[in-house]
Order: sequence, then C-alpha cells, then structure tokens
Amino acid sequence: MRKIDIFDTTLRDGEQTAGVNLNAQEKLEIAKQLERLGVDIIEAGFPAASPGDLAAVKRIAEEIKNSSVTGLARSTTKDIDAAWEALKGSAEPRLHVFLATSPIHMTYKLKKTPDEVVETAVQSVKYARKRFPVVQWSAEDACRSDLAFLVKIIEQVIDAGASVINLPDTVGYYSPAEYGHLFRYVREHVPNIHKAKLSAHCHDDLGMAVANSLAAIENGADQIEGAINGIGERAGNASLEEIAVALAIRRSFYQAETRMELKEISRTSSLVSRLTGISVPPNKAVVGRNAFAHESGIHQDGVLKEKSTYEIITPELVGVSSNQLVLGKHSGRHAFRKHINKLGFEPGEEQLNELFGEFKELADRKKELTEEDILALLLEHQIQPPVPMYQLGDIQVNYGTNNIPTATITLKSPDGKRIQEAGTGSGSVEAIYNTLDKMLPLPVHLKDYRIQSVGSGRDALAQVYVLLKYEDQEINGSGTAQDVLQASAKAYVHALNKTIMNAQKDELAKVSL
Ligand code: KIV
Ligand code: ZN
Repeated sequence: MRKIDIFDTTLRDGEQTAGVNLNAQEKLEIAKQLERLGVDIIEAGFPAASPGDLAAVKRIAEEIKNSSVTGLARSTTKDIDAAWEALKGSAEPRLHVFLATSPIHMTYKLKKTPDEVVETAVQSVKYARKRFPVVQWSAEDACRSDLAFLVKIIEQVIDAGASVINLPDTVGYYSPAEYGHLFRYVREHVPNIHKAKLSAHCHDDLGMAVANSLAAIENGADQIEGAINGIGERAGNASLEEIAVALAIRRSFYQAETRMELKEISRTSSLVSRLTGISVPPNKAVVGRNAFAHESGIHQDGVLKEKSTYEIITPELVGVSSNQLVLGKHSGRHAFRKHINKLGFEPGEEQLNELFGEFKELADRKKELTEEDILALLLEHQIQPPVPMYQLGDIQVNYGTNNIPTATITLKSPDGKRIQEAGTGSGSVEAIYNTLDKMLPLPVHLKDYRIQSVGSGRDALAQVYVLLKYEDQEINGSGTAQDVLQASAKAYVHALNKTIMNAQKDELAKVSL
C-alpha cells in the first residue's frame, strides 16, 4: 500500500469561503480536532494576511504536536518572514509558498515574463530554505499552464530546495483524465522529481474536485490537499473526508492508504459546520444527514435482509453514532467527565463544574441526551470568549398574530451589572435583535441568519448562526438552545461579544502604533 499524506486546508482555503470568519479560539478548536482526525499537515492560515491570522497560526503551531503545521506565503520575503514568525515554534516548521505559472496569471496578475517568474520562484524557495526545513512550492493555476514551462520551473525550485511540489487546479477546470495526465507527465519529465513529493489541490467549480484528486493518486500523487466538508474559495476544495473514505472502501483498487482515523470524520464535519456556519447538505457523500438513510421500501427491505445490499459504507466507519442515548438527568459528575473525556475534551475542574451544571439543566428539560447534544453543549461552552463578556440572562418574548412582537431581555455585563431593556420588531427574532442593539449599541449590520436542528425529533436542540458586518469585518456567532428564540439571542450576543473584543483589539493596536 502506498501512503498518501493528507494536507488539510480547512483553516486557510476553507476559511476563504465567502462569509466565513473564524477567530483564533475557533481555529484552534478545529486544529485540535484535525489532529485527532490524523491529518498529516494542517495549513493553519496565511500569516501575512493580518496580525490576527499570524497570531492564530502561531498558537496552533505551538499547541499541535501530532500533525505538522504550515502556513501560506506569497513569493515575497515579507510573507515568508511573517510565516516564519508564526511557525518557528512548531515541531516541524513547514512553509507553503506559491507563485502563478499560467500565461493568464503571469500576464495579467503578476505582470511578469516567464523568466522573471522562474527567478522569483527560485529566490523565494532559497530564501525560505534558510529558515524552514520543509518547503512546499505550489504552481498556482498549474492546470492552465504550459507543460514545458511547468517542467522547467519545477526542476529549478526542487534544485533550490523545495521538497513538495503542489499542482493546484486553482479554478477547478480539469477533468480527472487531464489531471491524472498532468501528474504522470510531471513524474516522467522532471529529471529531479524523485527528490520531491507531488501534491494535488483541487477546486470544485465543475464538481470534479474529489474525482480529480483520486485521479492524481492513481497517477502518482503522494499528497492530497482539501478541506473538511469541501469548503473553500468559490465552489470549494476537494472534500477530504470523501477522499479518505474512497481510499478505504476501494482499497484494493487504489492500493493507497492514509493515516486518518475515519471514525473521527463525523465529529470533525459537525464541528467545522457549526463553527463556520456552513451547513452540510443532507445528501452530501459520507457526512450528509441522509448518507446512511434508506428511504424506499425496496431499499429498506434489502438492508433489513442484508446491509451490504445497499450500504457500502457503514455509519460506524465514519463515527456516525446511531444517535443512542448516552447520558440522562440521573448521570453523575463522574460519568459525565468520563464521557466528555472519551469525546476528546479535557476541561479543568472549574470548567467541568460549569459544564456539569449546564448539562444538568439541559437534562432536566430534555430528559434524553444523545452524543450530538453533549457535543453541542461542549462546543457552545468552548467557543465563548476567554475573557468575561456580556452574558445573556432572561428573555421574554410576547408574540401574537395581531400584536407587535415585543422582547424584554436581561444581560449581565462583564463587571457583573444587570441591564434590562425592551424593544419591538416585525417578528420575534427581530424584536430580540433590536432590543440587544439598544443594549449594546454597535454599528453592526446583520448579514446572515441561519437555523438548523442538532439531531432529530421534536425536542432537538436548535443551532443558530449569525453573521454580522462591523466596519470592514465580518463576524460570526453561534448559539445552541432548546428554544429557537433563545438560540437566536445567544448567537447574536456571541457575535456582539466578538465584535467588542475585536474593537478593543483594534484600539490597542492603534495605541501601540
Ligand atoms: O487554489 C490554489 O491555487 C491555492 C494555492 C494558494 C495553492 O489555494
Ligand atoms: Zn486553493
């Protein structure tokens, strides 16, 4: 079996998804789960993009031990220096530096001749190798590049010290046969290619990202890049979970394997979906709600007689629990701690007490708690800002078809004061949001509001996701509760708290300038 390295770019290309904006805490949460999932490389961000991105990459690089952490850089000393600043504390500092090689990009975007592009690429790799032991070089828009030019530049960047060569289908243009051919061609024509690993990075504009990645593996790729749930720029990146499961289920065909812990897939997918606010389509392969649902009578009959009639992937393989009840209101602190440890969470004593209190409250209301409920509770707790912020107290909403919806809300301020306010709106959620706006007057604009259920059934928890626009930033927030209005309020308060934190950071940055 060939070993395929898995390079996860959920936190970089995935975060480039329109409307997604993760803070450092959320990124770290995802990085830890990616480590549990067993990805080989985590692309944690683009350090030169902003001080916030640099700080997030730095924190991830320092905390993650079992996956290699990398960051993206353009071919400039400034970008490479920023990446070094972020990554120097990691166990195995690794840089991902890129430069476009297609005539369209070289002419219109870079405004450089092909020779100048070769020179810039070589110099950037040489500069990077003075610091980083591992340098990956990407030929942006490789699929629309001239093959002879690609061969020439790849040979030179390998000589300059790059040990991974990535051939991205930046605009999702190629078919599997063409992408496979590109890998074969580069393997056969670049004289020093044996000194480097070849990597595939596909976008899904024509819906072929996963098929193209698998074609690259068939034609000699050693590494596959992608994002959880296929999120990413435009139509997204290749879905890593689909590729890993395809390699496992069709093992004898692909003769290739990964280090990924497949049973962590479902949990990783839910975490990414909840933190990014990008919901997973029900029919999505591997992680969609319906991926294991057999609807027609003929299929149900077949599955009852013999599962393999219509099921090639078992839900257990990817960690989809059969939604069994795991804890209830009689469960004690010890059982609760043991259960959350099993889920990979290790809170300190104080945090455990808080979580246990919230768990008891939820168990009182919901009686039967599934693994999804427990995960939602943990996540809700973990995404709260690390410093004390505004906390939602009571909410009362008055709604009737002939009345103006009115909300009365209590908030606890960071210094412990209780603030109360009432307001109206054209619907219950708007009444809540107008009231919160009066209490925390910030120039924010609600850009997106989404709601989904956690699990199934009438008493399922509601998960609300909001996206706010504040000056030139987009800030998301999420909230989970049994009641949709409470979840809506929590999500808005979460996003407002993040907005206040960002505003404070901006002020501090101005003062220190
Ligand atoms: O799609 C792409 O070309 C990229 C590069 C930066 C690798 O994301
Ligand atoms: Zn990309």
